[in-house]
Amino acid sequence: MKTADCLNHMAPYLFAQIDKKRNALKEQGIDVISLGIGDPDMPTPAHIVDAMKTALDKPENHQYPDYSGSLAYRSACAQWMKNRFGVDLDPKTEVLGLIGSKEGIAHLHTAFVNPGDWVLAPSIGYPVYSGGATLQSAETYFMPMRAEQGFLADFDNIPEEVLSRAKIMFLGYPNNPTGALATEEYFDKAIDFCIEHDILLAHDNAYSEICFDGYLAPSILERPRARECCIEFFSLSKAYNMTGWRIAFACGNAEAVAALGTVKNNLDSGQFNAIQDAAITALTAPQTCISEMCALYQRRRDLVVDALRAIGMECIAPKATIYIWTRVPEGETSESFATRLLEKAHVIVTPGSGYGPDGEGFIRISLTTPDDRLLEAVRRIKENM
Ligand code: MLT
Repeated sequence: MKTADCLNHMAPYLFAQIDKKRNALKEQGIDVISLGIGDPDMPTPAHIVDAMKTALDKPENHQYPDYSGSLAYRSACAQWMKNRFGVDLDPKTEVLGLIGSKEGIAHLHTAFVNPGDWVLAPSIGYPVYSGGATLQSAETYFMPMRAEQGFLADFDNIPEEVLSRAKIMFLGYPNNPTGALATEEYFDKAIDFCIEHDILLAHDNAYSEICFDGYLAPSILERPRARECCIEFFSLSKAYNMTGWRIAFACGNAEAVAALGTVKNNLDSGQFNAIQDAAITALTAPQTCISEMCALYQRRRDLVVDALRAIGMECIAPKATIYIWTRVPEGETSESFATRLLEKAHVIVTPGSGYGPDGEGFIRISLTTPDDRLLEAVRRIKENM
């Protein structure tokens, strides 16, 4: 049997690899603390689960869903964008339901990228940006992303031969994994650049709702010319503790939304209507569950940042996301340190190198673990430094 050539260039998915290692230790009866994947430990809020129970009893929900997402779901997404960011969207042409934003981001490549084209991905970023390019037999150009520049991906020096075949630029702020934030000026510069070079700007806003210290993350669609070149991805996974439900939406430039919709309606049949109904409740009910969650993560952030600093690991306290991004000790690589922590401390962290070239020298710690386990993990890390 011969698989497609692109699979030969495809690295195993970062978190699938980590899961394998964790399961091997667990099978030996070892108590492993996972600070790896960003998978909220708190349950989905009860009012959303209740909405799902009601939706399950409706026979019409048992049939094929609308390919683009139900109009009710897309309208709720549009209304949420209006309430949260002041952005007006036409739910019929500018919003598309997704089976999780990972799915939408991966399929965006199918809609826009031909073999031999280039995708511009941050040099530290969600692995699906470059993985999707590989699956299209396209190339990834990693835009440098350095601490000294506040982890803002640098698109100033992209070679002409790359630029002339670049189809999508991916950005994501609040940033996974660094926790960095973008300024309005940076978004405007990226938008102008993408319009000038006829590139689709895909903004991954999966962490917009997890903000601390009074910060409130923007949508790139708030920027004046964004509608000309931007598609933005929102996920209910982190905002409403709904990772397992696989529900998200894409919105923005109508042409991009339509192209992604064409790929999707040929590949999938939409998310289960009952899940879309529950998501409508999540988006339209009072948003107090989000402020409660932000308070919880902010407390955990402070706990972990203080504990890491106390053991000599320098890190910045992020103003958003559920992650702490920290340098590995002198003499270690991302991979060697993550492996040492896994094997000796039985603590899973994500090696920064898994996010791209500039992630080398860092690890990511996820705050989606109860406080006592987080502190226990830091204690174990200290013992194994
Ligand atoms: C993460 O931990 O970065 C994400 O939750 C992983 C994913 O969405 O696949």
